[in-house]
Amino acid sequence: MSLSEKIPKNPVLSCLSFGREGEPVPSILDAGEVRYLNRGSLAIAFALKHAGISSGDEVLIPAYHCLAMVEPVLWAGAQPVFFRIMGNTGLDLEDAERRLTGNCRVLIAPHYFGFPQDMLKAREFCDRHGLILMEDCAHAFFGGTAGHPLGSCGDYAIGSAWKFFPVDEGACVVSPRGRLGGSATKPMGFFSGIKSFLNTLEYAVKYRRLGWFNPVFRLAFRLKDGLWSMLKPKTAQNLPIKNENRGGSTGFDGNRVDLGMSRSSRMIMSASSKSRMSRNRRENYLKLLSRLGNLPGCRPLFGTLPEGVVPYVFPLVMENPEKVFPRLKEEGVPVIRFGEYLSEDMEKGLCRVSEDYSRRVFQFPCHQDLKPEELEWMMNKIEEALK
Ligand SMILES: Cc1ncc(COP(=O)(O)O)c(C=O)c1O
Repeated sequence: MSLSEKIPKNPVLSCLSFGREGEPVPSILDAGEVRYLNRGSLAIAFALKHAGISSGDEVLIPAYHCLAMVEPVLWAGAQPVFFRIMGNTGLDLEDAERRLTGNCRVLIAPHYFGFPQDMLKAREFCDRHGLILMEDCAHAFFGGTAGHPLGSCGDYAIGSAWKFFPVDEGACVVSPRGRLGGSATKPMGFFSGIKSFLNTLEYAVKYRRLGWFNPVFRLAFRLKDGLWSMLKPKTAQNLPIKNENRGGSTGFDGNRVDLGMSRSSRMIMSASSKSRMSRNRRENYLKLLSRLGNLPGCRPLFGTLPEGVVPYVFPLVMENPEKVFPRLKEEGVPVIRFGEYLSEDMEKGLCRVSEDYSRRVFQFPCHQDLKPEELEWMMNKIEEALK
């Protein structure tokens, strides 16, 4: 968590998190058998391990990626094979086909920023070539296409709970084809579980979401920090991985591949109002689109918000990224670039679109817990930075 961010980049716990449920919202959890894990990158590793991927195998990964998608593949001992994407972020499966060798075993297909890929096409491609399809729903915990929740086309699907729910850690692997039998997760240790919950509360206190309780908790956190520094050496093996944008290094730790989600995160997840999450995210996205969509100096990556899409963030393509990015950062706007650090194993020039997007696509939060005045503040700052 960066101290300089003036508004929360991620969802924040408050009593509003548990509002009344409305219309049911399809989610990756409806897509099949579920295992709850700690992080999305570990969930990819868990699925690769379960599928028996090892050295000598190859995994197709789109050129527009983050290192959190590549590290689990390297951890499994496999070789990433990168292929192009198109300007609309669709996977270029013809390019993937050209790069196929007899060693390719898996295709990783992400729903960028929550907008669904054409998974029927990806499914057909995988069936034709005998590949395992891993649907990467790290950006798409909710939503569906043609009456099916996202995640239902893959042999495996992975989700990243902390990007959608007000929790410090949490992810899942889902198997729509019932492949997970026999694979177990390790429960998180007692102290690590408590620490995860305290991190969640601390984030809420930082953004003043706990009303009268804020000062009390602030004091409690000072005590916690002292206590934690005393306990740390004994429990370091089983810590939750911190919820941060980790730039070039993702903090991937292969010893934690089987580590489960904390009990508190599971409870918060199941009690959170999914309809509120979906409604607020869509409303915030539409507000950002209508205010920033036609500004000179940028364009929205997705100019419409189709029915059923629950966006992860609002991606905006900048004309002058090198000028605008530091300005936004200085102002404390929580902006990040997906794929800012592309794998060094990817040949330069393999996909101009991905290289361009990794510099020019800025992602801004549109999550359910942004207050109207926070959204307004962020839109003003983006307008000023573009002038
Ligand atoms: C497309 C994609 N897949 C997987 C991951 C890994 O998820 P996590 O951050 O929960 O490890 C990320 C992380 O940002 C991601 O953007």
